[in-house]
Amino acid sequence: MSIEKSKTPLFHYGITIFLAAVLFVYVFSLDSKNPLDRLRRDWLGAKGPGNTTEEMEELCTKNLVPPQESHDESFVRMIKKAAMDDKTVILTDVNEAFSAPNSMLDLFLESFHNGEDNITRLLDHLVIVAMDQKAFEKCKSVHHYCYLHEDIGIDLSSENVYMTKAYVDLVWTKVRLWQLTLEQGYSFLFTDIDVMWFRNPFRHINVYADLTIGSDRFYGNPEDHSNDPNTGLVYAKPTRKNIEVLKYWLEARQRFPEAHEQTVYYEIRHELASKFDLKVQYVSTEYWANFCQLQKNFTKLTTFHPCCLVGLEQKIAQIKIITEEWKSYKSNNLKS
Ligand SMILES: *[C@@H]1O[C@H](CO)[C@@H](O)[C@H](O)[C@H]1NC(C)=O
Ligand SMILES: *[C@@H]1O[C@H](CO)[C@@H](O)[C@H](O)[C@H]1NC(C)=O
Ligand SMILES: *[C@@H]1O[C@H](CO)[C@@H](O)[C@H](O)[C@H]1NC(C)=O
Repeated sequence: MSIEKSKTPLFHYGITIFLAAVLFVYVFSLDSKNPLDRLRRDWLGAKGPGNTTEEMEELCTKNLVPPQESHDESFVRMIKKAAMDDKTVILTDVNEAFSAPNSMLDLFLESFHNGEDNITRLLDHLVIVAMDQKAFEKCKSVHHYCYLHEDIGIDLSSENVYMTKAYVDLVWTKVRLWQLTLEQGYSFLFTDIDVMWFRNPFRHINVYADLTIGSDRFYGNPEDHSNDPNTGLVYAKPTRKNIEVLKYWLEARQRFPEAHEQTVYYEIRHELASKFDLKVQYVSTEYWANFCQLQKNFTKLTTFHPCCLVGLEQKIAQIKIITEEWKSYKSNNLKS
């Protein structure tokens, strides 16, 4: 018994030292592609074996995926600057085609100036994510908060495996950005760049729902998942539930390759409702209007989204028509 007692601590020390040694050797020998490599660098600082020729070469190659944290950080910094007092931010994204002169970006910003409720003030809380360099340059010439998506350094490389078109990747980028935003404790209202704002859409967001989503077609009950969703406008509160929901939505992409985020949402909306007890509010097309179920009651109209129209020119033509109608409605109202 006494021999046992004196042996046991020694035995434990031995095991501990052995495990520590194994861990040390393991961490030391990590490949630079291993995610734990960052940990190693943090531990060892610049003195560590991070300067091998191989690693230096890798640092110089273009396809090196930058460490995610720092890029996320600069996006997060921008959100924090742009957010309203209640930690809400408005997000949109734009590519080269939609940022061309007199195209969607111009129309989008102009719509705020033709709007009611002093919605131009909301532009102070809008972050525009540019999907390419040209869109970024254009954005910077017309708006304060512009973010170049390439800087985010998200996991496109691994997600690409399931996808064929780069376009679909871009569509999915926004869901990742939504997730990041919520993780920082900020709520967001995402708007497609081709949604024209006439009044303040926050009017139609209630505190009850986890998510508020527009409708392609609205059938009368805001809580009913049989409404056809339209993710051109999406609002989410920064709750743990919503973060999990977005994670699930992102992962579900693998089950529906080549599908946009709206299609995947449509496919999984009942799963989301039952798994997470997700409460969604679908907004009537009377308020968040579109071309799929066109309603033009200007006393109610808040936003207009030219979906269910094919082609940029068609969309722009319809936007111009409804904008003129809106302006004459407004001037008639002023007279009376
Ligand atoms: C490794 O590189 C860093 C900067 O890249 C440098 O500060 C450090 O001195 C280098 N370490 C060695 C051991 O060469
Ligand atoms: C909008 O702004 C104008 C002038 O800046 C102000 O007089 C008006 O009260 C504001 N309206 C609302 C609804 O805040
Ligand atoms: C438009 O909406 C207003 C406010 O709800 C309503 O009073 C009016 O009857 C509607 N107009 C039409 C043409 O439906």
